[in-house]
Amino acid sequence: MKLTKEQEAILNGEKGETLAKVMKTLVMYGEAFGADKMVEVTSKYNHLVTSFGLGVMDPIYELMDTLLKEGAVSGQKFTVDPRPLDKNVPSSLLQNLVFKVFMYNKQEFYEKQLKELGLLEEDAFTCTCYMSEVGNTPEKGDVLSWSESSAVVYANSVLGARCNRNSGIIDLMGSIVGYVPYFGLLTDEGRKADWIVRVKTTKKPEAQLLGSAIGMKVMEDVPYVYGLNEWLGEELNDEACTYLKDFGAATASNGAVGLYHIDKLTPEAREAGEKLIRKGAKEYIIDDAELQRVYDSYPVVWKDKNAKPKLCFMGCPHMSLQQLKDWTERIEENLKKYGNSQVQIPTVFTAAPAVIRQFKETEYYPRLEKTGIILSYICPLMYMNNPLCGKMPVITSSNKLRTYTTSRYYTDDEITMQLCKGGL
Ligand code: F3S
Repeated sequence: MKLTKEQEAILNGEKGETLAKVMKTLVMYGEAFGADKMVEVTSKYNHLVTSFGLGVMDPIYELMDTLLKEGAVSGQKFTVDPRPLDKNVPSSLLQNLVFKVFMYNKQEFYEKQLKELGLLEEDAFTCTCYMSEVGNTPEKGDVLSWSESSAVVYANSVLGARCNRNSGIIDLMGSIVGYVPYFGLLTDEGRKADWIVRVKTTKKPEAQLLGSAIGMKVMEDVPYVYGLNEWLGEELNDEACTYLKDFGAATASNGAVGLYHIDKLTPEAREAGEKLIRKGAKEYIIDDAELQRVYDSYPVVWKDKNAKPKLCFMGCPHMSLQQLKDWTERIEENLKKYGNSQVQIPTVFTAAPAVIRQFKETEYYPRLEKTGIILSYICPLMYMNNPLCGKMPVITSSNKLRTYTTSRYYTDDEITMQLCKGGL
């Protein structure tokens, strides 16, 4: 790899042994992917995936400690994924014991380390860091060193920033040293589409279902999607961005998509159109029958497939302010329709602390509270990833949560029925 003088100097230890090791790791990582140079990280802030103080993550705490002692911290402040725990989310005594004593017993300690490393603010814990309320929104063309897959795919596709799908540690190292290896989604060539996807459904496809279908088909490739602009329009407004947030998270988790282009809508597709499509790209057509096939293919891993759901999680990735308002109205209308005053299944909506703060100032907050729904800032995945919660019949509209846990996916209409009517 060809390095600049400044990069060589860091590698040769002129800025200390620890930074030299960090640089060496990044160079080796880049070389493994065929990178021939390192480029500067240009975003104002970083975003880290590792937000949870798991007791078994000692090597991470030691690494953080070394970096702090050596003063090898990033000039970039950062946001980080959601916290794993919130006392407002329903949990049994036994679950609390498992969470606090066996799983996240290092949470306080780790949050202290994060603050010392440069956490943007006390409550900068969310996967939707790019939302305006949170303020970590990269500019088009910015080079990032992020790791959270749902945020990476959003930053690349909707904002036109440039970022590879990094691990948490590579993310941190890139931010500390200020350079990342130049390969993959950082390059023009790596941003070209290997797949043409044609959406030919008779109604607006469910974002999480469409994303899942595309993710499972193209895996880590870049898809160029035609036909979605008919449902989303040609302007990246709040509604389109919210849709793409959920769609993208499903492509990234049900496959490993780091970038997608939506014809006539996302920034690079608007600029370059079909020039972004690689010669010989494969084609995938999605109609109603294909979406149904994908939906029917999801395994239900509950012991009792007919069990009454004990919990419902909405907001993976975290919900937007508009989503919270829309869902408040939707739940109110449907509770009235089915003659109920509160949701029939304990339900948690999750959103960024900054979004929750703003939502609490609107007239919708007391209305949502009245429906019995709990508002929280946690990551539902971190709540569910243990044997106790794994046995619970949990429902969700998130295809990411379905993929990584035992929760069962339902469409938005089905979730509404479950919550407001008490069943399908
Ligand atoms: Fe966000 Fe946790 Fe889902 S980080 S995307 S709420 S798994």
